[in-house]
Amino acid sequence: MTDGNHTTRPRAAAETRTAAEYEGTVALVTGGASGIGLATARELRARGAEVAVLDLTESDEPFFHVRCDVTDDAMVRSAVDAVVDHYGGLNVLVNNAGIGAQGTVEDNAPAQWHRVLDVNVVGTARVSAAALPALRKAAAGPSGHAAIVNMCSIAATAGLPQRALYSASKGAVLALTRAMAADHLRDGIRVTCVNPGTADTPWVARLLSAADRPDAERAALEARQPNGRLVSAAEVADAVAYLASPRSRATTGIDLAVDGGMQGLRLRPR
Ligand SMILES: NC(=O)c1ccc[n+]([C@@H]2O[C@H](COP(=O)([O-])OP(=O)(O)OC[C@H]3O[C@@H](n4cnc5c(N)ncnc54)[C@H](O)[C@@H]3O)[C@@H](O)[C@H]2O)c1
Repeated sequence: MTDGNHTTRPRAAAETRTAAEYEGTVALVTGGASGIGLATARELRARGAEVAVLDLTESDEPFFHVRCDVTDDAMVRSAVDAVVDHYGGLNVLVNNAGIGAQGTVEDNAPAQWHRVLDVNVVGTARVSAAALPALRKAAAGPSGHAAIVNMCSIAATAGLPQRALYSASKGAVLALTRAMAADHLRDGIRVTCVNPGTADTPWVARLLSAADRPDAERAALEARQPNGRLVSAAEVADAVAYLASPRSRATTGIDLAVDGGMQGLRLRPR
């Protein structure tokens, strides 16, 4: 299990592109009842995975659904156990559950700091810790396939106004991703993250509807991205599916931006 072969093993010639990419794979998506998590759960299922969803709320989608709060240790452990028992193992964990916060460091009360960090950062660590025994087993098994993808954000790499607490939480998710990738490489478990720009999800819809001028706010968010539009949840889901894929065995410890060029590009005004 710790011979270091699992993560570096290239895709075998026999694994042709005609086989369903995720066939025989079990994936767990936190926050999978809405937005990016729901799109990810659908994408992984479309690529052949068995998909379980862990969320505070239920969705109408036919996934194996476990109601769970990622801030509750006991709930998390029993939710992960339920998934592993149901499918007989676990290959992929997507730590996507997250909440937002607006304001500068003067605006958020300490309790709100603790709450957001507990969901976004400790939640990621908590679910990962509960899933690691099953992921190690998967890495050492015949498929040799085990991966964790964390949902990070452009807020981890760019200074955005009025997002002090949220940015701190996503900066921690980025650092945690790299540390976990180092810790678990020799277990055969790859750890990566996706950094979306502003994505068109129920979360952003809620933010827009609370704005004084929702249309102007949406136009400002679209203009902030060099490609002039919001990222779709499906585009983020595709990036997760790429990183978590058995075909991406040489990729670990990275963050993949899905942000319409927002982090890296500086365009001249039209
Ligand atoms: N929408 C964006 O613009 C954007 C951009 C960058 C990163 N992200 C990240 O993507 C992730 C998903 O965002 P979204 O826009 O799809 O949001 P969303 O609000 O549509 O979905 C989030 C889901 O997480 C669940 N959740 C929240 N707290 C939970 C908890 N304590 N335990 C279990 N489940 C919980 C919610 O019930 C919900 O189903 C978050 O981590 C967010 O930070 C979003």
